[in-house]
Amino acid sequence: MTMRSTLFAAAALSVAVPALAQDAGQINVICSVQAEWCNMIQTVFAKTTGVKVNMSLKGSGEALAQLIAEKANPKTDVWFGGTGDPHLQAAELGLSLEYKSASLPQLHAWAQQQAQQSGYKTVGIYSGPLGFGYNTELIAKKKLPIPKSWSDLLNPAYKGEIQVANPASSGTAYTMVATLVQLMGEDKAFDYMKALHKNIGQYTRSGTGPIKAVARGETTVSISFVHDGPGEAMQGFPVATITPAEGTGAEIGSMSIIKGARNLDNAKKFYEWALTAQAQQFGAASRQFQLPSNKSTPVDPRVPDFKKIKFINYDYAKYGASTERKRLISKWEKDVNSLPR
Ligand code: F6P
Repeated sequence: MTMRSTLFAAAALSVAVPALAQDAGQINVICSVQAEWCNMIQTVFAKTTGVKVNMSLKGSGEALAQLIAEKANPKTDVWFGGTGDPHLQAAELGLSLEYKSASLPQLHAWAQQQAQQSGYKTVGIYSGPLGFGYNTELIAKKKLPIPKSWSDLLNPAYKGEIQVANPASSGTAYTMVATLVQLMGEDKAFDYMKALHKNIGQYTRSGTGPIKAVARGETTVSISFVHDGPGEAMQGFPVATITPAEGTGAEIGSMSIIKGARNLDNAKKFYEWALTAQAQQFGAASRQFQLPSNKSTPVDPRVPDFKKIKFINYDYAKYGASTERKRLISKWEKDVNSLPR
């Protein structure tokens, strides 16, 4: 998105964008949502505060790996977005700073709970359900059924037709692993993922890669967050989403201030801004349809209706714990990813 279109979108949301405020320093942000949203907040925050935002885009697992690597000498001030489990892991590993925003009561209970259970080292900024994406044209052309359940995905007719990300780099894919373990029990979940492996055409690095591949007709089905579907459809791609009949998990997209942040005042300023209803509108404005955590943020009609989805009772504390997340990811590498397809 260009600076002009970003500012146009901001203006359309009636967001006050004054003339460039005076130079007020900088901030280094790792951004784990899609590029358009990252670019929009980068531009608008800089315009409104004068703080230069140095933005680096990384998947949730990759962001955590970078923060671990730079622990002794942190170069990041804020980690914005990405699934909540690795944010909880970062909190446990002492990578993020305890910070209790006065705005917490304005947030949904699930976002506040994310803060509480991390000792206020992270906070929920959005939520979204895991499900499937499919290319409506390809599925009809190949005479494949629409997958309605996790078990449907094991149909041999889908061989090579399904993409999902790699849980080591992607929070989306880790959410799938943790969801299946909670839904089926660990042994059955790993048997399931081994069987699913035969139908996987590619494991991508980024969690949004598979639904983009579906949209562009490069694969027929994806395992994706369903809030990433409408943005592709709005660009004219033949993509639809569905959530599995057996039940599914949801992410609590999160934000953390990094311990040892060199630009701490600006980090707090950015964090407070990102929790406002006004700033949270930039998700939908950049065609990303997660449910915003601030209760006053208008909810776009394209945001998935949580009331219509069957959810498991996802245990965020357990699956965001460092040893559990590491254990499940290495088990997936060893028992699933290493198998021939
Ligand atoms: O930005 C879209 C999104 O689906 C977010 O909702 C989510 O937090 C993030 O991608 C996860 O990305 P990844 O799977 O690459 O870590």
